[in-house]
Amino acid sequence: MSSVESTSEREARLGGTFGAHLAAVCERSARALSASGYAGLVVHSGSLLGVFEDDRTYPFEANAPFKVWVPLQDAADCFVWFEPGSAPRLIIHRPGDYWHKSAELPQAYWTRHFEVRTATDRAGVRAQLPADLSRAAYIGDALAELTRWGIGAINPRHLMRRLDYARAVKTPYELACLREASRLGARGHLAAERAFTAGASEFEIELAFLEACGQREQELPYNPIIALNAGGAVLHYQVLEKHPPRERHSLLIDAGAEFAGYASDITRTHSYEDADFAALIGRLDQMQQALCAGVRAGVDWRDVHLNAHQLTGALLREADITRCGADEAVATAVTSVFLPHGIGHLLGLEVHDVGGFMRSPEGGDIPRPDGHPNLRLTRVLEEGFVVTMEPGIYFIEQLLDAARADARGRRINWSRVAALAKFGGIRIEDDLAVTREGCEDLTREAFRSLQPA
Ligand code: GLY
Ligand code: MN
Ligand code: MN
Repeated sequence: MSSVESTSEREARLGGTFGAHLAAVCERSARALSASGYAGLVVHSGSLLGVFEDDRTYPFEANAPFKVWVPLQDAADCFVWFEPGSAPRLIIHRPGDYWHKSAELPQAYWTRHFEVRTATDRAGVRAQLPADLSRAAYIGDALAELTRWGIGAINPRHLMRRLDYARAVKTPYELACLREASRLGARGHLAAERAFTAGASEFEIELAFLEACGQREQELPYNPIIALNAGGAVLHYQVLEKHPPRERHSLLIDAGAEFAGYASDITRTHSYEDADFAALIGRLDQMQQALCAGVRAGVDWRDVHLNAHQLTGALLREADITRCGADEAVATAVTSVFLPHGIGHLLGLEVHDVGGFMRSPEGGDIPRPDGHPNLRLTRVLEEGFVVTMEPGIYFIEQLLDAARADARGRRINWSRVAALAKFGGIRIEDDLAVTREGCEDLTREAFRSLQPA
């Protein structure tokens, strides 16, 4: 797909698949309602959260259970009403407010699939819903008004669990949105790399990323992690230094964009001009691609994670960072000193999407492997899952200090660690759509599509 596709071409392409997506959401919702004993569903987009003792609000983020129905990310207090057998009703909040701009009545590729109504306040919303809601379930913020609405259940776990479970398998429409989010994110990454090479500060690198994505920070699926030098050792580094460091060694940037409510989650690491660190990045990149090559439907994600530790053990030895073989590094948890996070997670409407541990729609969780408390996905992969693959090695002072103090200490080459600490760490993260035979690497495909012909 060319990167110069026009907005109308894109709308036409998405419009071709949205109907089937919505039909799938209706179908799975009808099944979940019936299995949970409800006859209808009210879904809330979320409320604006006010700043303490002020009349300002925090940036709004629509609730994911709403976004799966409607690609409206910036409209608070909107509702979907769904009753199996009827077209879903969308109630758009349009307050009579001359301080803010009310939501426009949407006219896009998806609107004709809804019965669209408007309301100026929550009383108006209630009037647009059936009089008797005693057999309906509600999913959304626990609004004070709800006690008067006569709703059967508010956020019932057994219903939500079924819906969350189903969200892991993406429809063709959702995959199209995720590809779009990847393309936007890749565009941001290329601009960020150029800014890094030109000597920018962390803050300036973020500005370059935002401009290239065409998104403000609150539209992104998460705040970008932009770490120069040793900051890369902080897994979710949140500082955006305004001044460039005196010496420039490396950039770790973990940043994604959002499209129609769907996220990309991409990490790249760059060496400024150190060939040894660049080679280490290249080696981790090869390892990441080897892990991606093993992804397909039917694979247990816990095995992917454990295999990543095995490969990390070998890489650390080969790079002269450890003094023992892979088996010993894994058995003694030396690999966890350098790779303390999970190898990946579900991705979709939320960057760390729901349902990663569910054994079945009905109940039960699949536990993490012993010794791996930060893994966020333990399910067996199915066709249509979208996951991240994000191996890394980091030089984290807190974890290194603990390792130095026990039996792991003699298995680590401390002079090599000291030499590499100024680079912080390396993470390479791609987003993968799982297929029966393998996977589609949305991230690499997005970068490829942006290369000059
Ligand atoms: N961006 C957070 C993560 O990679 O999980
Ligand atoms: Mn991730
Ligand atoms: Mn990430």
